[in-house]
Parts: sequence; C-alpha cells; structure tokens
Amino acid sequence: MGHEVVVVGSVNADLVVSVDRRPAPGETVLGSDLATYPGGKGANQAVAAARLGGRVGILARIGDDGHGELLRSALEEAGVDLAHLLVSGGPSGVALITVGPDGDNSIIVSPGANARLEPGDVPAEALAGAAVVSFQLEIPLPTVEAAARAAAEGGARVVLNLSPAAAVPDEVLALCDPLVVNEHEAAFLLGHDGAPGVPEAMARDLLDRGPRSVVITLGAQGALVADSSGVHEVPSPKVEAVDTTGAGDAFTAALCLRLARGDALADAARFAARVGAAAVRKPGAQSSYPSVGEDLPAL
Ligand code: RIB
Ligand code: NA
Repeated sequence: MGHEVVVVGSVNADLVVSVDRRPAPGETVLGSDLATYPGGKGANQAVAAARLGGRVGILARIGDDGHGELLRSALEEAGVDLAHLLVSGGPSGVALITVGPDGDNSIIVSPGANARLEPGDVPAEALAGAAVVSFQLEIPLPTVEAAARAAAEGGARVVLNLSPAAAVPDEVLALCDPLVVNEHEAAFLLGHDGAPGVPEAMARDLLDRGPRSVVITLGAQGALVADSSGVHEVPSPKVEAVDTTGAGDAFTAALCLRLARGDALADAARFAARVGAAAVRKPGAQSSYPSVGEDLPAL
C-alpha cells in the first residue's frame, strides 16, 4: 500500500538552551545545560504522523556528521520510510533554539544539508500513491515548487505549511489544500506591515489568493479553518505550556494524517489541535509527540 503521508522537507538537530531572558546584542546571559534533540519541520511532521500510526515516508537530506546519525535513527525508530533520505557531505541542518520561561521559543536555523535538497532529489515516483504530500519552507523553494507540482499531478493532496514565511508563487498556492499558516505567516503573505490583522478576515483574504483551503493556527486559541463552505473556528484544549517547539509541526502532521484517511478539514483540524496541545506539554519537538493510543488533552 502507498504512503498515507509523504513529507518533503527539512531535518535538523535542535540545540536547545532554556533562558530566563534572551541576550541583547553585545550581552551574555547564562542558560541551562544544552539539550540536543532531533528536529526540523519536515522530520518533525514525519515522526508525528508515524507515531500516530500513519504510513509515512520522508524525502530529505542529512549531512555525514554525528547529527546526521541521530536524525536518521529518530526517524527510523518512529517507523518512517527512509528510502529517500539522502546523505550529503558536510553538516546536517542545525536549529539553535532558546526556550523562554513561558515555553516560548526563538530559533535560528542553519540549513546545512537541507539547502542541498534539489528538485532532482524528489522523483515523481516517490510521491506517487501518497494520499497527502506535505511541505514546509526549510528546503529550497525550487524543490518545493517542483515537488508540489509533481505531487498534485500524481493525484496527491498537497499541504503546505508556509514556515518560515517566504513568498511562494501563486501557482504553488493554488495547489494547497490546505495552506497552513500562523498569524505572522498569514500577515506576511498578505503584505500587512507590522501587526497581523483579524484572523477571520485574514483567512478570507488568504483564500482569495488561490489555495483550495486555509488553516490559520492560533496557538492556545486553536485554529481557523476556511474553505468554500466558510470560516470555522477550531478550539484548542487548555494545557500548561512547557515548550512550544514543534507544536505546529505536530498539528500539521495530525491534520495531514486525518485528511489522508478521509476526514473533512474541520474534523481533521479538531484532532490536530489536540495533538498540537499534547506536544506543548513536554520539552523538545519530536520528544514531545504523542503515540497512538496515548491520551490526548480533551477539549
Ligand atoms: O518547528 C520547529 C522546528 O523548527 C524545530 O525542530 C527546528 O529544527 C526548526 O526547524
Ligand atoms: Na514540545
């Protein structure tokens, strides 16, 4: 049987330090011990969907360094199909992450091998038969464009998480079902300066840009789902935030898996909000993702 979800995306080693506050330029602050976790938006989604019981594959590149080994074994342990996990000479992707006292994070990504994932690394036959093919923007845009087109031509449903925010051609937006963004990414795409607008209005404006559907994630406030039937609110369970890193990836992965299994978008998003909330309760990204059968926070 084909994959339920194929992720075309990034794999990073997350180097995480907790801090009381972040340093200003020229300043030094002391933080916690360093924790090294497997991460990267692509790998996070693949692991999250596989933990939930999905048949999942990943198309990605790691480096030939020690981080690469950690990243491969994390994917392997989760049961992700690694037939298209490529290795380049040089460093793997790394994310330098500080976690603040409220569980909030700031991230600098050094792309490493992710920057070398080329359109030719994503053969159409690797996407064929997938119900959903999922993208984020930590790999080169030309690779996303070519693979999204190939996925759609092969009959897969294309999901794009526009993170980190970048301008993508309208032609790619038109393939998305849904386009998944947070408020800042939504504002970026709509060309708002400074503060994001009212989420509901942004959801409508984003739909006008061409995607078949839109999901705006609102953190603890849940999400908004928009398609031709209108805009619908999706609540999020209340949980205590320990570390929000990768919670958005868990949300998107759960969404993709439920869409692959035939759920309507709003139903898939309701489940995804519970999976995202579960991921907020524990440190790290993949290390915080729930497994199938585990209790999810209730609405
Ligand atoms: O979305 C969280 C992820 O963003 C982290 O795992 C880090 O690798 C960065 O890519
Ligand atoms: Na977490």
